[in-house]
Amino acid sequence: MQIKFIHIILPVFAAAVFSACTQKAEKEYVIGFSQCMTDDVWRQAMEIEMNIEASNYDNLTILLRDAKENNQLQIEQIRELINKKVDVLVISPNESAPITPVAVEAYRAGIPTIIVDRKIDSDQYTAYVGGNSYEIGKMAGRYASALLPPRAVILEVWGTKSTSPAQERHAGFIDGLDKSKNFQFITLEGKWRREIAKVAAQNLTDWHNVNLVYAHNDVMALGVRDVIARTDSALLSKIRMLGVDGAFGKDAGLEAVADGRLTASFLYPTGGDRVIKLAMDIVQGQRVDKEHILNTALIDRSTARTLLMQSNQLISYQKRIEQQRQNMNNILNRFSILRHSLGIILLLLVVVFLFLAYIFFINRKIRKRNAQLATKNRETEKQKEQLVVLNEQIKEVTDQKVRFFMNVSHEVRTPLTLIVSPLEKWIKSTPESPLRTDLLRMKNNTDRLTRVINQLLDFRKVESNKSVLKIENTDVVALAKTAKTLFDDLAETKKITYTFETNSPSVFMPIDADKIEKVCVNLLSNAFKFTGEGGKITLSVEDGTEALTILITDNGVGIKKENQPLVFDRFYSENDRNHTGTGIGLHLSQEFVKMHGGSITLESVPGVLTTFCVTLPKAQDEILGDAHGESYAQVAQLAAVDAGISAEIIAKKYDYTVLVVEDDPEIRAYLSEELSQNVAVVTACNGAQALRELEQNADITLVLSDVLMPGMDGFELCRTIKSSPELSHLPVILLTALSETGQRIHGIAEGADDYIPKPFHIDYVKIKIIRLLEERKQLRKRFMQSVQAGGIAIVNPDAKIASADKIFMEKFASLLAASFNEADISIEKISEAMGVSRVHLYRKVKELSGFSPVDYLRNFRLGKAANLLAERRHSISEVAYQTGFSSPAYFSKCFKEVFGMTPTEFVDKN
Ligand code: FRU
Repeated sequence: MQIKFIHIILPVFAAAVFSACTQKAEKEYVIGFSQCMTDDVWRQAMEIEMNIEASNYDNLTILLRDAKENNQLQIEQIRELINKKVDVLVISPNESAPITPVAVEAYRAGIPTIIVDRKIDSDQYTAYVGGNSYEIGKMAGRYASALLPPRAVILEVWGTKSTSPAQERHAGFIDGLDKSKNFQFITLEGKWRREIAKVAAQNLTDWHNVNLVYAHNDVMALGVRDVIARTDSALLSKIRMLGVDGAFGKDAGLEAVADGRLTASFLYPTGGDRVIKLAMDIVQGQRVDKEHILNTALIDRSTARTLLMQSNQLISYQKRIEQQRQNMNNILNRFSILRHSLGIILLLLVVVFLFLAYIFFINRKIRKRNAQLATKNRETEKQKEQLVVLNEQIKEVTDQKVRFFMNVSHEVRTPLTLIVSPLEKWIKSTPESPLRTDLLRMKNNTDRLTRVINQLLDFRKVESNKSVLKIENTDVVALAKTAKTLFDDLAETKKITYTFETNSPSVFMPIDADKIEKVCVNLLSNAFKFTGEGGKITLSVEDGTEALTILITDNGVGIKKENQPLVFDRFYSENDRNHTGTGIGLHLSQEFVKMHGGSITLESVPGVLTTFCVTLPKAQDEILGDAHGESYAQVAQLAAVDAGISAEIIAKKYDYTVLVVEDDPEIRAYLSEELSQNVAVVTACNGAQALRELEQNADITLVLSDVLMPGMDGFELCRTIKSSPELSHLPVILLTALSETGQRIHGIAEGADDYIPKPFHIDYVKIKIIRLLEERKQLRKRFMQSVQAGGIAIVNPDAKIASADKIFMEKFASLLAASFNEADISIEKISEAMGVSRVHLYRKVKELSGFSPVDYLRNFRLGKAANLLAERRHSISEVAYQTGFSSPAYFSKCFKEVFGMTPTEFVDKN
């Protein structure tokens, strides 16, 4: 549809533009006009007549050349016009003989040549236009004869004698005269000019005899008249003056006859109009006559007036024509501008149209593309969703597999242990014998199996962030030496040169010995796997100022360059090394080293030298910022606390009960075992079980919980505790894996009292727990004192707090003071009354008092209760109800928790 539209529209536009831009190609014609002179009235009249005629043609240009009565100049000018290849050449010769050759030359050159007025001495021209001078002369002769008596004297004033009109006008005049009257003649040559005739006439002395002056043109007659007037003006009325031409214009013959200065004139038409017409006929290819003799007529005073009027009219027409021509030119110019503008506008329209069409097409294309993209997007989205589902399923299946695998590993480990122990016993009691060799081989292989199983279990722990660092100050050199000895037998069997090197006899560092030993064993096992008989393996420990380096080098097959970056990836196993493996050993080693804030690198030139380099940093600064160096950060923090004080804190036993919530049995056991040295420990393997424990065991003073657990996770457990009025006072410490810390820190801050990032240092955990509980004890003591004294409880009474905060706390305390005795008062209600959100109230009160609003309320009640009990005016039950406790039993429980004695004991003491 659009294409058809374009097919129609475009040609229409093109045609419009074409017609607007093209003009009808009309041939331009040039007429060359060689004029012998231009400064006399007759020739000026000729020019006017020519122009009037020329104005009928649009495509005509006249090139006028003025020869100034100079034959040579005229010849040159005619040559110039010939060279210009004018379409028609018009020549009005100055003198006949000199101009004839060049005129003939033009004619012969093929240029149509028109001779005007004076003739040439050849008939080699295209056409001649001119008046009949002989006829004029004859008419003048007859006219003079009629006017003059016999024997009258006639003064004949000649034009240039060498020109045809002069000769013809003389001949005609003689022939026209009445011979019987025997006229007498005086002659002068005026050369067609008034001034020349005047000068010639001044030589004449006896004017009284002259009866008539016959001049070959009017201007010479007027020149002679000037002389007569000056000689004797009375003669003017006596002497008849005849001229030729009868031209119109100022001081020309027509005017002179009309005003009586000349007696009569004989019309000699210029032929200007005829010349142009003829020229145009010639160029348009029409056949033309050769001779164009123009009519003549007598002009006396009466006809002169009429002719003068006509000529004036003609001049005025000419002027009007000129004006209209001018106007027309202007209009044509404007039209031409408009036509060009139209062309440009149409062109622009075409451009705009093309542009619009282009935009339309592009738009359509974009829309199409967008639609395609949208479809593709939808498909991608769908695929993504499918992938997510698939991923979930894969994850689920993988989890199931891993769980299954781990269960199997656990299952295998126990019988393996049961095999290893008797085996060791037998080896000890069996002397050197083939049986002992077999037993040793069995032991080696069970050890290997154990390592693999342990590796798998370690891998699972690392993957689920359950791996903890058990930092001890360890001699790394001794550790490496021990690891080395595990492979001594193998080295001997494989005839491998196996050496141990170190630059220091012992280097003590805080490390998880078990993990670093596993790293060494893994790397050595790897080296033995890929080093053939007669090879070389070296284990070296280099102590540096900033780090300790463990290097394992071998000259085995090595690892190709392209595979080197992959060796630490999970499940990486190089197919072409012809060895099988779990593909987790190196990954696990890297994870363990990273947990220590260290790094592990590989350099290998296959078949030449392969080196695994383990770097363990010594300086705390370097590892503090490391993601896996948390445990070291904790060590650093511990170090910051006076070592003596930490040791003192850890050495004591406390009357607290800590609930450890952890799903990993090993970590749970580890935490339980360690914490039992200082506090009573209760354990739970998930959130739900923890809540049950809390319900049953009122002695629990703190909850230490892992975050990632099946069922109810640590966050949820924390939220549940903090939103339960009975439990909210219990401090909660969360053990968070680093990946969770950043994201959940905000959530933790809202509920948990503290968090310990994993991997953790056990002493750090212990000190955190003990300090938190001890501080709370102190705080509560101060709080009670302050509440009992009727003041507001704030964290540090000495600290300056902002007055807005003070007002806030005063308002909170006064609200509690007014309603603490109502059992159903809730924190929601108080926050509503305070005009703040529950969370805001929680943060503020916690920040300023050290207690959550619920704890604050309960402690407030207990403080008031203690006061009442001290007064000994009410029973314990009464006090419980008066202070807003729902039951005396719950009151007693809370009271004991805070004051360390039952209300009864308290009354007895006071
Ligand atoms: C003008 C003129 C006319 C005359 C003609 C003859 O130059 O002298 O007066 O008729 O030339 O060639």
